[in-house]
Amino acid sequence: MKKLKNQVAIITGAARGIGAASALALAKEGSNVVLVDILPSEEMKQTILQEAPDVEVLSIVMDINDSQAIKRLMADVYQTFSRIDTIVNNAGTCARVDLENLTEDLWERDINTNLKGTFLMTQAAIYPYMKEQKRGKIINVSSISGIMGGPFASSNGKKSERSGPGYAASKGGVIAFTRWVAKEVGSLGITCNSIAPGPVETEITKGMDYPLTNQIIQRMGTPEDIAGAVVYFASPHSDYVTGEVLKVCGGSAIG
Ligand SMILES: NC(=O)c1ccc[n+]([C@@H]2O[C@H](COP(=O)([O-])OP(=O)(O)OC[C@H]3O[C@@H](n4cnc5c(N)ncnc54)[C@H](O)[C@@H]3O)[C@@H](O)[C@H]2O)c1
Repeated sequence: MKKLKNQVAIITGAARGIGAASALALAKEGSNVVLVDILPSEEMKQTILQEAPDVEVLSIVMDINDSQAIKRLMADVYQTFSRIDTIVNNAGTCARVDLENLTEDLWERDINTNLKGTFLMTQAAIYPYMKEQKRGKIINVSSISGIMGGPFASSNGKKSERSGPGYAASKGGVIAFTRWVAKEVGSLGITCNSIAPGPVETEITKGMDYPLTNQIIQRMGTPEDIAGAVVYFASPHSDYVTGEVLKVCGGSAIG
């Protein structure tokens, strides 16, 4: 029996990487999926339709900083399916710049995409849709950077190319936002949790070397490793879990 049959999930940053793997995993559990990305996600839509032919897949090009577009998206999805079960706030940017060289523009890009985008999507999904249906799952992809500061990594031997202070601040903010929202909407039947990935093989980590020998599980994570946690938080298995941060990091940020 599929865990998420007939449900509807909206996944941001779903054109590739962790978002794409999460959308596919949710679809394989029977959820209809709405792929949102600033890049076209048509190719991912076709992959999902091949692997999960029973579900509907919508592919939307949208910037998660555009509050009006987000409101239209929620209204359209609700009109189409009459429900919005799960939001996966996954879209993200990561400036690999040290404090000395971080510009205001790059700071704002990471804060706006990672933190403001998460706020706008969450607000527009809950009010009015999840509040009225008295049910919903908000899943925010943060990062171990938001817990421990950017983990050490190098590119061509240069340590400074680990994820920057704007990224760490935005992801720490996502964790605090997750807990705030969890407390606010628990009585409405809505849970809000966060996943904090460690280093995962995607565009964001391309060309980077992580000291994997310091990890308990000595390999890079895969997008599918994170997608498994997304399915857990979308499913009834996590109905009594809210305000939590699940590190999926091979033990690199244990403690
Ligand atoms: N890869 C890792 O090691 C790692 C570790 C910790 C956390 N994360 C987080 O996981 C999430 C997914 O990242 P990924 O590793 O799959 O990287 P990725 O770059 O492959 O995916 C990010 C996606 O977000 C989309 N996006 C960026 N800005 C957007 C915007 N304004 N509106 C809509 N879409 C936008 C991009 O087009 C892209 O498809 C991010 O939030 C990232 O911070 C990744």
